[in-house]
Amino acid sequence: MDPLAGKKILLLIGGSIAAYKTPELIRLLRGCGAELRVALSSHAADFVAPLALQAVSGQPVRQSLFSPVEEAAMDHIALARWADAVLYAPISASGLARLAQGLADDLPSTIVLASRAPLFLAPAMNTAMWENTATQRNVRQLRDDAVTFFGPESGDLACGETGAGRLLELIEVVDQLRLALAPKPWAGWNVLVTAGPTWEAWDPVRGLSNRSSGRQGYALAQAAAERGARVTLVSGPNALTCPTGVERIEVESAQEMLAVCQGIVQTARIDLLLANAAVADHRPAKTSAEKQSKGELPEQLFLLANPDIVHRLHDDPQRPRYILAFAAETHNDEERAVAKLRAKGADFAVVNDLRSGAMGGTENAAVLFCADRRWELPRSNKLDLARALLHHLATCLHGRN
Ligand code: C5P
Repeated sequence: MDPLAGKKILLLIGGSIAAYKTPELIRLLRGCGAELRVALSSHAADFVAPLALQAVSGQPVRQSLFSPVEEAAMDHIALARWADAVLYAPISASGLARLAQGLADDLPSTIVLASRAPLFLAPAMNTAMWENTATQRNVRQLRDDAVTFFGPESGDLACGETGAGRLLELIEVVDQLRLALAPKPWAGWNVLVTAGPTWEAWDPVRGLSNRSSGRQGYALAQAAAERGARVTLVSGPNALTCPTGVERIEVESAQEMLAVCQGIVQTARIDLLLANAAVADHRPAKTSAEKQSKGELPEQLFLLANPDIVHRLHDDPQRPRYILAFAAETHNDEERAVAKLRAKGADFAVVNDLRSGAMGGTENAAVLFCADRRWELPRSNKLDLARALLHHLATCLHGRN
């Protein structure tokens, strides 16, 4: 389940041109299952229509501090109490100045002062305004007050300049909020995830690989980071974006993946290895640094077996504390698959149902074997499956850490 599902998010919108993006932000948050209430500063309504916000949030939108009609629906103090989290996005330079001083002279600043919920600010303004000494002083003050900032980032600004001050990409705002609000059963855990296929080059343009998209491994990395783990993702070639809060190291071949993983386990104490990579079992015995012409291609390709990464990491004196390995099989082969993974050193096993279209697809179904327990992970998108898997694993390891 998405950690934002059921969360009560109070979105405050300030007087910045980036306010025009907020209907989409509301749509994204509601798509995660969050409950939304929206309040605007008086200038925000110049940049985004309150009616549009009401339509996408499905709730009345508050615009003024002392409106008899709005106060009758839910007074601003009740609104401040209702929230699990307050997201002020975008917040302008004057919005930051108000909060830094603890003023309560417009609707957003009054709500912030009246709320005990965690506060997240996503600033958006002209570069000179962001870099101004007064703004930076306000930012320092708010950080000292334990307020969390999402961005801003650098890029093209509505004023025509390019530089710092741009509202963080909306999807990043949502990802960062999710990271901040998710429960943290994996806090303090160092998790290493391997993901994707490997590419076993034969010459610069040809090689051996498989149909793994890397999506399940990336989803595991994201879900572990959401739940508080410090995550390193060692990834074979793919076009996926690194999840927020995850450190990614990109590799190509199985041998490279092994070398990088060995380097990691030997320098950092790894608590949990999630070995999701679809490592190529073989590599070409002979490789060429130059592209071979058609006439030069051998009729037969000789192969060498690749090292088994799970096996080698298990045998390392600094072995990860727990290892979870994955097998793509059919249901009938469940027992054999688990035995195979245990033989190579895995403490826990996940057997993927290949009939779910897992390999290369966006959905997956699997069974998790942890200690003497068996959990069915029903067919779902790969991120939800990763979250469910880590939830069960946390339950299983409880008391064994
Ligand atoms: O034996 P099989 O390839 O089915 O085992 C799959 C599991 O072993 C996965 O967890 C995969 O990441 C891991 N593996 C590995 N090194 C290999 C082959 C597979 O770590 N060379």
